[in-house]
Amino acid sequence: MKMQQAKPFVKWAGGKTQLLHEVEKLLPDWISLSKKVTYVEPFIGGGAVLFWLLQKYPNIKRAIINDINKDLIGVYKTIKQNPEELISLLYSIQQDYISKNENDRKDYFLQQRDRFNSKDNDIVFNSALFIFLNRTCFNGLYRVNSKGQFNVPHGKYANPKICDKENIFACHEILRKVEISDGDFEKTIQYAGKDTIYYLDPPYKPISLTSSFTAYSKESFDDKDQIRLSKFCDSISEKGSVFILSNSDVNSHEQKNLFFDDLYSSYQIYRVSATRMISANASNRGTLNELMVSNNVNNLSYKYK
Ligand SMILES: C[S@@+](CC[C@H](N)C(=O)[O-])C[C@H]1O[C@@H](n2cnc3c(N)ncnc32)[C@H](O)[C@@H]1O
Repeated sequence: MKMQQAKPFVKWAGGKTQLLHEVEKLLPDWISLSKKVTYVEPFIGGGAVLFWLLQKYPNIKRAIINDINKDLIGVYKTIKQNPEELISLLYSIQQDYISKNENDRKDYFLQQRDRFNSKDNDIVFNSALFIFLNRTCFNGLYRVNSKGQFNVPHGKYANPKICDKENIFACHEILRKVEISDGDFEKTIQYAGKDTIYYLDPPYKPISLTSSFTAYSKESFDDKDQIRLSKFCDSISEKGSVFILSNSDVNSHEQKNLFFDDLYSSYQIYRVSATRMISANASNRGTLNELMVSNNVNNLSYKYK
């Protein structure tokens, strides 16, 4: 039986499933030819690019992922090391939840949310709660308050898939060759060098004051961090790595705003459209312009010109 394709096991704000073709255009030609490629993704989130890329290019034998959200990284580690136990916990949570009426489901959700916020769970149980909350909360958002407590309300889906056994096993197969770390993106500098490709997808700079969605963790990501990230790109580039970075195109909303044009003036800047799915405000959903930046000139889209 052919194994299912691995896809993100959580819904994640800023998920890149719709932008994969744009990332693909910017990959260096040697990605499919070299046996020495190392792939690094310092802001892994839901991992849409990682899962797609490692299945498309099986020649890539080494990959490193990182994110500042420790609970999310705990789920990656659990799927890598302990998928069976995770699946059996998810299965029983799913049975409990689906058998309840709407009011009881909400109470159950709030109980599990308190349990998750107690931070008193082993890594596998914490991962099961993380996936359960992600599947059953409002819009699949992940948002925490200033104390780091998950505070998204219940979502009222009729039949949410809480235990996706086939996908967890498919992700497990991919993650077997992936090194997993948690912390700030800068710690991944140690992998920079020739034959290394970084895909960087940080929290986006808000295009307006009301549209900001950056509460993936209690630490925010502000302009100083965006500047720190551009310096990081300079360093990995000097060490010989290829990088591809995504961000919001603030300039297309506010013509005088040259924040990214200035920060990345030494590199190629591409403007693309993408459909942003996760937004609490329905009027903010739709097509938005995004920026893609790369230091790589040996790529497909370059040849289109
Ligand atoms: C736009 S999301 C990445 C989305 C991902 N590409 C996907 O397809 O789901 C940004 C991620 O950066 C993480 N993050 C925020 N600040 C960080 C930091 N200083 N270092 C590393 N990761 C950080 C967030 O937890 C979040 O998962």
